[in-house]
Amino acid sequence: MSTVVARAHTNIALVKYWGKRDVERNLPATGSLSLTLDRFHTTTALLDHYGDEDVLFLDGDVASAEETARVSAFLDIVAPNRPRFQLRSNNHVPTAAGLASSASAFAALALAINARMNLGLEDRELTQLARRGSGSAARSIYGGFVRLHKGERDDGADCFAEPCEVAPSLDVRLLVARCATGRKKIGSTDAMERTRTTSAYYDAWVQTHARDLDEATEALRAGDLPTLGAAMERSTLKMHACALAADPGIWYLAPTTVAVMNEVRRLRESGASCWFTMDAGPHVKVLTPADTAERVAGALRGIEGVLKVESCATGPAAHLDPEPA
Ligand code: PMV
Repeated sequence: MSTVVARAHTNIALVKYWGKRDVERNLPATGSLSLTLDRFHTTTALLDHYGDEDVLFLDGDVASAEETARVSAFLDIVAPNRPRFQLRSNNHVPTAAGLASSASAFAALALAINARMNLGLEDRELTQLARRGSGSAARSIYGGFVRLHKGERDDGADCFAEPCEVAPSLDVRLLVARCATGRKKIGSTDAMERTRTTSAYYDAWVQTHARDLDEATEALRAGDLPTLGAAMERSTLKMHACALAADPGIWYLAPTTVAVMNEVRRLRESGASCWFTMDAGPHVKVLTPADTAERVAGALRGIEGVLKVESCATGPAAHLDPEPA
């Protein structure tokens, strides 16, 4: 069997997922809505290997036992009697700093194992498989704007992602402002569980989430960017407020993060269309129309502490890649 190579692009949630209704099956307590980005992706190659254990290389280096075990456990879910593999995963995403490298990594892995083992999974099933590795990975199976349904069923059969309907007039960019270096201090699964079990605001977060998700979904369909942007900011602020109120509190925001948030508000007050969102890391992503992206990016670059601002357009669906990883 020849080498299989899959590529998936990362995505950023405009309406966030934070908290699990089932940790074992990795079922989210809320739905979410995201944009897949053109700029950041993971390429994963599955190669035949005749040892007793999988061997994982991350960006050319042998991965830790913990990282390898996470990947092996994921592959065992779909194909328990599979052969062992050598996996070469290259991240063109800053790893574990709130730019969702796990989203593109597990989406690429889902696609690769599906092809390698001839599992014949359709896109919707691939979103369910990718979700087992990382909740946000479900959304990276598709390009563009994607909604992940939380579902109600205990077995997760109704928890899947699908593309959103988008008004053709909507032409946006997501500016990624890097605000710090280094890996995040607490992983999303642990942080979500601590929030769920200790934050006084967790129930309010879950109960008020559907409104933001429905409003954003409808705004996309109508091409109503101000409504989409407002729902997006509300969602990230609620997510971070909820995590801040965990015990002990969790915050990913750095001083530069807050400076960028302030600048986005200031730009908006002076007439620019732009809205921020942050994930489990210090970086800020700013949604803005394509024709104002350069102006807004220029303003963000002028903020002390901002390391880099990259403008991302809509990215493609995950796909098998003829290029070597
Ligand atoms: O997919 P995970 O387990 O890394 O969680 C992602 C959580 C957020 O990025 C903060 C929000 C989201 O919906 O992507």
